[in-house]
Amino acid sequence: MSDIFSPIRLGQAQLSNRLVMAPMTRSRAEQDGSPGELAADYYSQRAAVGLIVTEGTQPSDDGQGYLTTPGIYTDAHVAGWKAVTSAVHTMGGRIYIQLMHAGRMSHPDNTAHHRQGVAPSAIAPGAPMFTATGMKDIPTPRALTTEEVRQTVQDFRFAARRAIEARADGVEIHGANGYLVQQFFAPSANLRTDEYGGSIENRARFAIEVASAVAEEIGADRTAIRLSPGTTIGGIDEGAEGPDLYRYLVGELDKLGLAYVHVMHTGNEALLADIRKRWHQALIVNRPGRGREEIGSDIASGLADLEAYGQMILANPDFIDRLKADAPMNEADRSTFFGGTAKGYTDYPTQPDATGVTEAAQ
Ligand SMILES: Cc1cc2nc3c(=O)[nH]c(=O)nc-3n(C[C@H](O)[C@H](O)[C@H](O)COP(=O)(O)O)c2cc1C
Repeated sequence: MSDIFSPIRLGQAQLSNRLVMAPMTRSRAEQDGSPGELAADYYSQRAAVGLIVTEGTQPSDDGQGYLTTPGIYTDAHVAGWKAVTSAVHTMGGRIYIQLMHAGRMSHPDNTAHHRQGVAPSAIAPGAPMFTATGMKDIPTPRALTTEEVRQTVQDFRFAARRAIEARADGVEIHGANGYLVQQFFAPSANLRTDEYGGSIENRARFAIEVASAVAEEIGADRTAIRLSPGTTIGGIDEGAEGPDLYRYLVGELDKLGLAYVHVMHTGNEALLADIRKRWHQALIVNRPGRGREEIGSDIASGLADLEAYGQMILANPDFIDRLKADAPMNEADRSTFFGGTAKGYTDYPTQPDATGVTEAAQ
């Protein structure tokens, strides 16, 4: 039985343990999309986890949806991420950059170019989004032409190359949580009549093409994907065929031999067990809201090779030390999740040292 603190190889990367920092948008990037000046501190404080997956990072101008999220396609982005990866590596950690194209989950007020969002079809998600002037309804996006879908695949490829130039250990394609890749899966977001819409094979095609292009560019052993079967975030409804789409998709992705699949699990246990069977590389499972007492249970049962945690690691830079010491965890402060300064970002305290002094993480 594998232990959470035992090392594991993930593609090219050797990890010191099986606990993963889940990707979390923090909206603290510079206006040009470079990671913010505190990002290197924030991530390196947490480098004792086996793997850090960064916040969602857009592969292109059109990939942005939220305010002040970082990108990974310009020289400035590469320089900014290099400082982050170097700080994490210095602390002995490993880091994958999450490539996130928001698709229709995008408000023009939030981007430098202010263009309409792009999506599989011109269907609004029916959800509000935070902007600099408060919550606003997300407008109807523009449907990508077939040629533009192919170009978007190339944008992911290019961003993956840039992530490696920034010395990331790999990239995780964001195929979850209602963003562009998952929009292609869902009939509620995809009414296309070309080869990217209709049948299960067609709706899965974009994800497979993106994964193939990225793997070809940087190696399958540095390429990963996150999926969240059945999620309804952002008006996603995968319909009755949803589970079968994932069975097909995971079978196809398995042929590529990617470093890992990361499932944000929202409840279909039978499907998760099927994914485990169909996927022969490492599987990371994230169960939203999972309590501390359950840490390690999916690894112990053999369902997962690694487990990802979001808010607990956000609030506890010394998460691994606290687990080992059976020490209490800080609570995450939701009011500082998105945007702002060091508060709620780099100033969560580590556990008291032997002299009883609690210090902000260094
Ligand atoms: C502040 C915040 C930002 C998030 N941003 C992302 C993101 O950029 N990409 C992503 O795949 N998931 C994102 N998530 C989801 C987390 O990765 C994770 O699945 C979720 O928090 C549930 O796990 P937890 O209960 O351990 O926090 C975000 C979650 C939070 C709390």
